[in-house]
Amino acid sequence: MAHKITRKMDLNSEDFYVEVEAPLVAERFRAGNFVVLITVPHGERIPMSIMKAEDGKISMFIKKLGKTSWELYKSLDQFEHVIGPMGKPIDVKKYGRVVVASDLVCGHAENYALCKALKEAGNYVISFQTFPTAEEVYPEEVLARPVCDEYHLTTEDGSKGEEGHYLDILEEMLESGEKIDIIFAGGSLPNLKELGDLTKDYNIPTIVTVRQIMVDASGMCGACRVFVDGEMQLACIDGPMFDAHKIDWDAALRRPMMYVEQEKIAYERCKKLGRC
Ligand SMILES: Cc1cc2nc3c(=O)[nH]c(=O)nc-3n(C[C@H](O)[C@H](O)[C@H](O)COP(=O)(O)OP(=O)(O)OC[C@H]3O[C@@H](n4cnc5c(N)ncnc54)[C@H](O)[C@@H]3O)c2cc1C
Ligand code: FES
Repeated sequence: MAHKITRKMDLNSEDFYVEVEAPLVAERFRAGNFVVLITVPHGERIPMSIMKAEDGKISMFIKKLGKTSWELYKSLDQFEHVIGPMGKPIDVKKYGRVVVASDLVCGHAENYALCKALKEAGNYVISFQTFPTAEEVYPEEVLARPVCDEYHLTTEDGSKGEEGHYLDILEEMLESGEKIDIIFAGGSLPNLKELGDLTKDYNIPTIVTVRQIMVDASGMCGACRVFVDGEMQLACIDGPMFDAHKIDWDAALRRPMMYVEQEKIAYERCKKLGRC
């Protein structure tokens, strides 16, 4: 069944917003879930985080990266399939003071969904969203500000909000003795590793999204394996959120780079055909 795209808009120079009709996914979505999109008949399956699920529709933030995302941005007004919700939702309960942090497209989508669920569960939720510059900050209507208790917008060059990456500001907060009971974060993998290194010293549980290449996204191919505490886990069914203090980061950072050459060829072909 085709799924109609009901809204598409630019978020910044690289990312765009898509809202699509997907009533069954919207009804069962829990924070931490993701979807798999098949954009055209026989197209590849691409996993996407969900920002919100309301009125039978889901909203996503998508980066224009390669063949499928560019094609979607330029040419499509429907998806062939929207499959999900996939993955394991987070354990939504009262933790106390919770930080939710993000610095990239998928992390920003999760930030909104996690803040909303954790606030509704009675937590004091502190959200950090980091963008490179003021020009790249998303429109206010999609930021996590209204769904948290304390909001920190940061830009790396200081042109809007607080100056620096959320890692710098969080480190200052922790050094000053501010109490944080748990941290959830998504976005750049190297920064999530750094976050885990930082919070380990303070003994703060830290749950992060480990984005790995997914093929079937249903636990059968093994493509998305992540090693956690020495055990093999599958990001598509056991994750995608895992304990940052237990992840084998060397392997997790290496795997997403495996198909860069093939991805380049697919994008060049798509550009030649005028679809990207
Ligand atoms: C759980 C999860 C949530 C995600 N959420 C988002 C999101 O909210 N917004 C967003 O823009 N992107 C998200 N991604 C990444 C997204 O799936 C890729 O950006 C997309 O597949 C790129 O496809 P492409 O053809 O445009 O680019 P390609 O040129 O095919 O790929 C560009 C890069 O995207 C990644 N990628 C490609 N194919 C896959 C795949 N099958 N599975 C996972 N990663 C892949 C690789 O790092 C690759 O180098 C998520 C990935 C996962 C695993
Ligand atoms: S994508 Fe195949 S096992 Fe996870």
